[in-house]
Amino acid sequence: MIMKRLIIIFGILSLTGITQAADNNDSQIGQMTHHNMKHSLNDGRISLGLSPEMKQHQLSNMRAHLKAIQTIIGLIVEKKFDDASKIAHSQLGLTEKMKRMCNMFSNNNFIELGLAFHKSGDTLGEALLTRDTNQSLRALQNTVGYCVQCHATFRQ
Ligand code: HEC
Repeated sequence: MIMKRLIIIFGILSLTGITQAADNNDSQIGQMTHHNMKHSLNDGRISLGLSPEMKQHQLSNMRAHLKAIQTIIGLIVEKKFDDASKIAHSQLGLTEKMKRMCNMFSNNNFIELGLAFHKSGDTLGEALLTRDTNQSLRALQNTVGYCVQCHATFRQ
């Protein structure tokens, strides 16, 4: 009795599965196009509406940020805290150049987040001077938190 019921339930389940698969197949091309468009036009993040030149400029600046993080991690491992601190201040800190670049954007929340990020770069530079690995890593984690937060919120 139980076995029979199970067979019936299983039969219904697989039939539903087959119907769904057929449906998917019918509209597969349409769905793929729709999906791709959704991805490139609206993934839920706020667009900064950048010009092609600004886009290139921002991406190369970002790649430099990523490189700075890698360099700082390497220098912490080697206990070269002074060098790491210099990189933090000059590459991630709130220098005049970074201030100018952040202020070129038209979205105020983006500017605010960018400036807070660069301030955290200076805080990281100071933490590294304590020569304490844990304290340095905590500050580094805080800075990388801004990378994560901004990328989750904004896109080009
Ligand atoms: C205030 C905002 C903001 C902060 C902070 C920020 N980024 Fe970005 N980053 C962006 C935006 C916007 C893009 C473009 C993303 C998009 O359009 O999908 C980007 C793109 C990138 C890219 C892609 C580069 C490429 O060539 O494709 C890398 C790598 C990157 N960021 C690294 C970092 C790192 C590492 C940090 C922190 C140390 C960081 N970013 C902090 C806004 C930010």
